[in-house]
Amino acid sequence: MIPMVITDSRGRVIKYARISVTDRCNYRCVYCMPEEGVKSRARFETMRYGDIIWLSRILVSLGIRHIRFTGGEPLVREGMADFLVSFREEFPALDISMTTNASLLSGFAGTIAKARLSGMNVSLDTLDGDKFAAMTRLGDISDVMSGIASAVGRGIPNIKTNTVVMRGFNEHELPDIVKFSQKLGLIPRMIEFMPLSGNLWRRENFVPSREIFELLKPAGDWKPEARGRRETARGPAKYYTDARTGLKVGIIDAISGRFCPECDRLRITAAGNMRACLFKGEETSLLDLIRGMDEAAARGAILTGIGLKPEKREDSADGLCHMSDIGG
Ligand code: 5AD
Ligand code: SF4
Repeated sequence: MIPMVITDSRGRVIKYARISVTDRCNYRCVYCMPEEGVKSRARFETMRYGDIIWLSRILVSLGIRHIRFTGGEPLVREGMADFLVSFREEFPALDISMTTNASLLSGFAGTIAKARLSGMNVSLDTLDGDKFAAMTRLGDISDVMSGIASAVGRGIPNIKTNTVVMRGFNEHELPDIVKFSQKLGLIPRMIEFMPLSGNLWRRENFVPSREIFELLKPAGDWKPEARGRRETARGPAKYYTDARTGLKVGIIDAISGRFCPECDRLRITAAGNMRACLFKGEETSLLDLIRGMDEAAARGAILTGIGLKPEKREDSADGLCHMSDIGG
């Protein structure tokens, strides 16, 4: 069978889907949510695990090759680690990955390892316990540290740390975070702070990627990774290799970058709404079609949704949402 490929109206091949499994989170990170949190949807409005598998079969039949589970925090959802194992059984050849705040990882890493993920992204914005508590409003950094250690200990591959860079908060910690992450065999990535509904974004605390690169200089003799190399080609991060150690760091220029021409992704919220672009508010509702198991209609709706993918980011404010709803 020739594998199916979906392309959008601009010829971009869509092969990566990010599925949020819950809009709930045990943290209230300042860059993600307002202090009071965001109103969670009722459970019946959330895709069940069976719904996610059914939808994923269609996505895979349409050419999706990589599914990432996000949240909120995926591991606050009951049964998530076991679900990953059954999802792997269902899709033996798919790239499956997860984004997590790592707070609950130590209890689940053993089960998750059985799901043979192709990678995991873990938030790591500071190494300082007090700053971490302030940043997450609810978190204890020791949970994250033991979560990361368990994931490494269980051999979960390709773990990346994500650091959202905020001026006045962590910009001087970046070299330490890079060293910490590299020492554990992880790939550190620095992300430009994006304005989202209800977060604390101000122009004054935004650090552009050029400056992030300067701030990273004490941590390595960074040479840009050759264009077209697998990792750089795969996602929005630009990778740099330390000429001395061969170790890498990634920078995601979420604001100043121009990665729309290479965008290969679509997003599904926990409520089963598809978003073709992070910066476009328009959503295509799939939940009723999933629940009705209407395969033809679901395929049609996904293709129509992909048709809504804009050529490039629209900078109007109405597309903005909470990251907890769409999982970054
Ligand atoms: N800007 C940049 N990245 C963000 N994330 C969440 N909110 C923001 C934001 N405002 C990313 C972080 C976190 C992941 C879940 O989403 O990297 O680790
Ligand atoms: Fe939760 Fe992640 Fe948002 Fe922090 S960034 S509040 S951990 S969903």
